[in-house]
Amino acid sequence: MAQLWGGRFTKETDQLVYNFNASITFDRKFYKQDIEGSIAHVTMLAKQGILTEQERDDIVRTLKEIRDEVESGKLEITSEYEDIHSFVEANLIDRLGDTGKKLHTGRSRNDQVALDMRLYTRDELLHTDDLLKELLETILKIMEANTETIMPGFTHLQKAQPITLAHHMGAYFEMFKRDRLRLHDIYERMNYCPLGSGALAGTTYPLDREYTAELLGFYGPTLNSMDGVSDRDYLIEFLSACATIMMHLSRFSEEIIIWNSNEYQFVEIDDAYSTGSSIMPQKKNPDIAELVRGKTGRVYGALMSLLTTMKGIPLAYNKDMQEDKELSFDAMDTVKGCIALFTGMLATMKFNKGKMRLSANNGFTNATDAADYLVKHGVPFRDAHGIIGKIVLYCIERGIAIDDMSLDELKAICPVFEEDIYEEISMETCVNNRLTIGAPGKAAMEKVIEAEKAYLAE
Ligand code: ARG
Repeated sequence: MAQLWGGRFTKETDQLVYNFNASITFDRKFYKQDIEGSIAHVTMLAKQGILTEQERDDIVRTLKEIRDEVESGKLEITSEYEDIHSFVEANLIDRLGDTGKKLHTGRSRNDQVALDMRLYTRDELLHTDDLLKELLETILKIMEANTETIMPGFTHLQKAQPITLAHHMGAYFEMFKRDRLRLHDIYERMNYCPLGSGALAGTTYPLDREYTAELLGFYGPTLNSMDGVSDRDYLIEFLSACATIMMHLSRFSEEIIIWNSNEYQFVEIDDAYSTGSSIMPQKKNPDIAELVRGKTGRVYGALMSLLTTMKGIPLAYNKDMQEDKELSFDAMDTVKGCIALFTGMLATMKFNKGKMRLSANNGFTNATDAADYLVKHGVPFRDAHGIIGKIVLYCIERGIAIDDMSLDELKAICPVFEEDIYEEISMETCVNNRLTIGAPGKAAMEKVIEAEKAYLAE
């Protein structure tokens, strides 16, 4: 048991208590951030004359040495240490003796862990943002290539009106774009440095918190030391953004699973992203999409867990807060993994344009436009709606589409119809007449694609 305290204790810690209390098995994940924070701290201590320049140089050099050895596998982070902070400090003291013992001057593990977790989350946030950008680029490519690929748009999973694949993909583009904007907002709020908050009440050393903050790439120091050590809002916000990303990925996965089904066959997932069955030789299953949909639950779980952990904690630091880590780390890894795999699956997926087109043709997706045709020729909309309803019934009984009816058949139900009805209710017309901002018409879609391209190039 290697721990940083014990002076006022007369008994050894019970082994079970020690294990229950220790966090090394999971906080080892941010050894880099812990060392980065310590380097900034001693750099500031030396600037303030609290440590000598020699002491600073020795500590910084040794901290880097420890980091490199952990990275190369030469130095192992073992559970003989209570947490990552003890591991680093103990190793430093082993190598530097008394100089190493000065690292923790004017610092508490409370502000140290608050810093480490914030640095780690900030890195994860930026990485997640990069992955989202790659996903958006993949979606945009599909959009550019498919402004004329007609497919049915659905409501209630019933064919509704014709759209294009570009338009459908564009909806997901907007969702993931908002996810990125959310991450950027969170970054702006979280990018303040808690180091220097001490245990809860700051310290009596003349720390230059602005300087430490600057060294670590923060906008500045946090402004209340009790809040500084016990704020996990940024993490809750990030997990909430992660939960929303997963919700979007899960919806998209659900559609891909449906589209990939034998009944729809709108898409074919690449062999590299599918799996087989141990018994049914014909099977090619969309497991990646299903796993992404399934993993959404554990990310929601991490958010709920942290919200619940935080809700009863009095100021300032309490050990409950150690529970902010395991599920958060799992959620962060899960989200990154899901975005990356989903992007790969999407980029290699084949779209079966013929099937999409056929499905749009055969689902009365032009019924609204047929009714609008009558309205343009003077029939009040409610009457037009009724007439087209009758026509649809007529078609269903015969297993045909509206376009398959002869002009005589149409006229028999409503004499207003003329030869131009066929052109007016063709899938192309239905789509391309929808030209308001955000609609699927080719010209409208192309404007949006240009704008989104500019956004990605920013
Ligand atoms: N392992 C602890 C955590 O994750 C570090 C802070 C310990 N501070 C303390 N006062 N025991 O929160």
